[in-house]
Amino acid sequence: MFAVYAESFSSDDPLSGLVVGERPDPTPPDGWTTVTVKAASLNHHDLWSLRGVGLKDDALPMILGCDAAGLDEDGNEVVVHAVISDPAWSGDETLDPRRSLLSERHQGTFADQVVVPRGNLVPKPASMSFAEAACLPTAWLTAYRMLFTQGGLKPGDTVLVQGAGGGVATALITLARAGGLTVLATSRDEAKRQRALEIGAHQVFESGARLPVKVDAVMETVGRATWSHSIRSLRPGGKVVISGTTSGPQLDDAELTRIFFLQLQVIGSTMGTRAELASLVNLLDATGTRPLVDRTLPMADARDGFAAMAAGDVFGKIVFER
Ligand SMILES: NC(=O)c1ccc[n+]([C@@H]2O[C@H](COP(=O)([O-])OP(=O)(O)OC[C@H]3O[C@@H](n4cnc5c(N)ncnc54)[C@H](OP(=O)(O)O)[C@@H]3O)[C@@H](O)[C@H]2O)c1
Repeated sequence: MFAVYAESFSSDDPLSGLVVGERPDPTPPDGWTTVTVKAASLNHHDLWSLRGVGLKDDALPMILGCDAAGLDEDGNEVVVHAVISDPAWSGDETLDPRRSLLSERHQGTFADQVVVPRGNLVPKPASMSFAEAACLPTAWLTAYRMLFTQGGLKPGDTVLVQGAGGGVATALITLARAGGLTVLATSRDEAKRQRALEIGAHQVFESGARLPVKVDAVMETVGRATWSHSIRSLRPGGKVVISGTTSGPQLDDAELTRIFFLQLQVIGSTMGTRAELASLVNLLDATGTRPLVDRTLPMADARDGFAAMAAGDVFGKIVFER
C-alpha cells in the first residue's frame, strides 16, 4: 500500500530519512480493525520521530502519523484515537505506563490503511469533514483535556494561553472560546497575536506583558520562556496546566514561594482518553467550531508539509488527504 514512513533518523536533517513510497498491507491482530485513511494530519511528533526521538532503530521502517479519520471495515466514518494502551489496562489510558502513540510502536496513519484496536474508533459526525476530523486526535485532544479535565474550567472562567502561535495553543484558544471561557493569549509575534484574536481570543498581549486581571488558569506549552509569567498571572488558588516545554524544561526561577503562598496548583497533562476524544467531537459538532487548517495537501506531497513544519511556516494544522 501507499505509505509515508521513516527509513532512518537524522537530528540535523530529519527529512533525509523520510520516504514517500510503498509498505506491505497491514494485517490486524485479534481485537484490532483496519481503517481506510481518508485524511491524516501532521504533528511535531512526526518530525521528532525523523530525528530519532521516541523511536528506536529496530522499529524502522515506521509509517509516520498519529492522527487520522477514515472509514471502518463496514464503511462507517470514524476518527481514530491515537493512544494505544496495553490490552490488560483498564481506566484512563493516559495513565497506562505501557501506552504508546500510533507511529511509536504500531504503524502510523500516513498510509492507505492503519490498524488499531476496535475500541479506538470514535464515530465522525456527518457535519465534519475528514480533514477537520483528522486534526483532532493529538493537538486538539491534548488541548481539550488541559482545559476541561485537568484545568476543570467552566463557562465564565478566565484562561491565559501562552505562545498563541503553537499547534496546541491555537487549539486551546478556539476550544476555550467554544467552551464559554474568557480567553487571554500571549505571543511574541504581532501577526500571530492578530490571528489569535481571529480564532477566538478576547485579548492578546506580548509575551511577558502584565495582564489587566489575574486568571483562573494558565495553559502552558512553552515552558522556560513563559513559566514565571504564568505563575505571576494566576489568582490565588489558580492552576497552571502544562503539557509541553517548547522553549526548554529548565527554570531560572520556579516561583516556588508564590506557588505555596498563593496555594497555586501545577498540573501535568498528556494526550487524552477515547472518551475525551468523543466529547471533543461532540463539542465541535454542537457548536460548529472547527480546527484551523493551515493547508491541505495530497498525501503523496507529504514531504512539502514536513518541510513547512520544519521551517516553522505554519498557523494551524497541515492535513494530508488520500
Ligand atoms: N503532552 C502532550 O500530550 C502533548 C501533545 C502535543 C504537544 N505537546 C508538546 O507541547 C509543546 C507545544 O507543541 P506545539 O506543537 O504546539 O508546538 P509549536 O507549534 O512549535 O508551538 C510552540 C509555541 O511556543 C512559543 N514559543 C516557542 N519558543 C518561545 C520562546 N522562546 N518564548 C516565548 N514563546 C515561545 C511560540 O509561540 P509564539 O511564537 O506565538 O510566541 C510557539 O508557537 C511541545 O513541547 C510538544 O512536545 C505535548
